[in-house]
Parts: sequence; C-alpha cells; structure tokens
Amino acid sequence: MDFIAESIAAYSEKHTQNESPVLRALNRETNAKILQPRMLSGHLQGRALSMFSKMVNPQYILEIGTYTGYSAICLAEGLQIEGELYTIDINEELSDMANGYFAQAGFEKEIKHIVGDALEIIPILKRNWDLVFIDADKENYSNYFDMVIDSVNKGGYIIADNVLWSGKVVEELKGGDKDTAALIEFNDKVHNDPRVENLLLPIRDGLMILRKV
Ligand SMILES: C[S@@+](CC[C@H](N)C(=O)[O-])C[C@H]1O[C@@H](n2cnc3c(N)ncnc32)[C@H](O)[C@@H]1O
Repeated sequence: MDFIAESIAAYSEKHTQNESPVLRALNRETNAKILQPRMLSGHLQGRALSMFSKMVNPQYILEIGTYTGYSAICLAEGLQIEGELYTIDINEELSDMANGYFAQAGFEKEIKHIVGDALEIIPILKRNWDLVFIDADKENYSNYFDMVIDSVNKGGYIIADNVLWSGKVVEELKGGDKDTAALIEFNDKVHNDPRVENLLLPIRDGLMILRKV
C-alpha cells in the first residue's frame, strides 16, 4: 500500500536533495542484483535519515539491519568527527558489497559492520547510543527496544522502520501473520512507555521516532 499519491511522492523526491553518486550506485546495484531490493531505504527515506542524523549529530549510532548498507551511509552523514556507527546484519553474503560502499562513501573508519544475530551482538556492544535505527526482523522489534533502551542517552533517539507494514497494522489480523502482530505489539508498547516520546511518521512504510526522556 502506498500512503501518499504517486504524484506527491514524485514531487517530494524532486524537491529533496539528490542522492550522492555513491548512494545512487548502491541503490541501482541493489535493485539490479540483490533479492528483495524494496528493503533498501531509498532516496526520500534515506535523505530523511540523513537529515535526522545531522539534527542529532550523534557520537554513537547503532543500526540493526544493514542489508546492502544504504541507510548506514545516510545515518553516518550526521556523525560527529570521530563518531562511530555500528551496523549489524545476520546475512554474511551482503557484507563485502556493503563494506565496499562504506569505503566509497568515505566511511571506512566510522562504520563498523558486524555480521551476526543482533540478539547476540547488541549485549556485547558496550556503548551509550545517541541514535538507534531498528530495521531488521519484525518479530524482534520489541526485543530490540528492550535491549537498547537503557543504553540510549537521555535525549537520544530510536527510529524504527516499517511500523505501518504496508498498512497491515490497521487491517484485520490474519492468523499466523507474526510480523504484523509483532509490529502492532511494538507500536502499542512504545506508545505506552513513559520513557520515550513518540511520533509515527507515515513516510514510506512508516517510521516510528522515539525520543528518550
Ligand atoms: C530491511 S533490511 C535492512 C535495510 C537497510 N537498513 C536499508 O535501509 O538499506 C533488513 C535486514 O535485517 C537483517 N536481519 C534479519 N534478522 C536479523 C537478525 N536477527 N540480526 C541481524 N540482522 C538481521 C536481514 O538480513 C536484512 O538484511
């Protein structure tokens, strides 16, 4: 389901900063060669992530779900000098491609790409996060929130992607649809958690923006 009219989406992209040549190449290569290219954040959402990151100007960013590295590069654009972005993905096959683009984008040093299950990796990363981007398996969104919330700095942000799940969160829940059930649970849970302020932005597939109070 598209949440905004095609013409408005096109107009918005046209009046949004262009993708850098590296991001454009990564977007193209992902669409040409990689399975499920819809997973990549893309032009408009990528510029939104970059803009948010520049507003926060984080020292430490955690990303859960690297895929081919598009959103990691966008988020890294807002890092402080000597800041670091840790990005985790369980799929080893895409790591050479992602690392190649991190280097081309000039973030070879800043982006630490870790291959493994985020549920196992997050507890061993001893950092206090200024910005966390949750964009991996939907069933674990609530677990990821629980795992990171204590290590997010006061005034820091958590952004979760796909929280509208093509509109399925407002439709009748089909039996066995664990992803939609998990996203509904996540959205309700963070909406009622006094540790965060929340804003659900209907950009692309829905971005939940959480600010730790
Ligand atoms: C939607 S894609 C990420 C897209 C990327 N953030 C972007 O915008 O370009 C989700 C990624 O999460 C990864 N993933 C799924 N389960 C995971 C887990 N338990 N731990 C780490 N990564 C996981 C998948 O391999 C996939 O590459």
